[in-house]
Amino acid sequence: MEEREISQAVISRLPRYFRYLGELKDEGIERVSSQELSSIMQVTASQIRQDLNNFGGFGQQGYGYNVEFLYEEIGRILGLDRKHNLIIIGAGNLGQALVNYVNFERRGFLFRGIFDNNPMLYGKKIRGIEVQPMMNMERFVQDNNIDIAVLTIPKNEAAGVAEELIRYGIKGIWNFAHVDLQVPEGVQVENVHLSDSLMKLSYNISRFQNEK
Ligand code: NAI
Repeated sequence: MEEREISQAVISRLPRYFRYLGELKDEGIERVSSQELSSIMQVTASQIRQDLNNFGGFGQQGYGYNVEFLYEEIGRILGLDRKHNLIIIGAGNLGQALVNYVNFERRGFLFRGIFDNNPMLYGKKIRGIEVQPMMNMERFVQDNNIDIAVLTIPKNEAAGVAEELIRYGIKGIWNFAHVDLQVPEGVQVENVHLSDSLMKLSYNISRFQNEK
């Protein structure tokens, strides 16, 4: 299927479509209209049609969308039709929590290695994966076809470690450190700041209270 350049705004909504369609698929539902999707997802039907039209539109007038097909296509667009090998740098609270969350694997994100610079943690097993010293990282990345590195280290350490990872050929960084990383073209960074989401929640609570 021919693919046009899709805006980041649409891309950021695709995981949500993917999730809902996955649920419909698991329930054995074969097709869904934009109106039905709209009411489940709380997004307007026209937004859904517009979004899905971006990559050719998989819907047919009077039929709606074929759930399985749309699910597979969105998965393919999101690169979920292949497995991703991940390493995590920083085996502290957050790093361990992420490794312990099993559901990433269902989507094809496989934690292969964990690295830290604290010797007290070397050899500690988190869900069967041993924490290794940083000096093993280069070899590990190359031998295990690692494409994503997860940074759960303090912000003042992140830039140096990211540079190292990029030198070893890492193409994607899932960055939890509170710092904007400068990376060369061809390397993708996705920043996750849980506190941004909390601040948005806080804003909405205050707005609601002020409106009353
Ligand atoms: P933590 O202190 O429990 O873990 C940090 C780990 O990183 C430690 O095991 C430490 O030995 C290791 N480390 C430090 N420097 C390193 C280096 N140069 N190379 C390899 N390992 C190194 O901290 P926690 O709670 O797990 O948080 C980790 C980071 O994530 C912090 O910077 C925190 O601010 C951030 N964070 C971000 C969130 C987000 O939503 N983006 C949410 C929670 C934490």
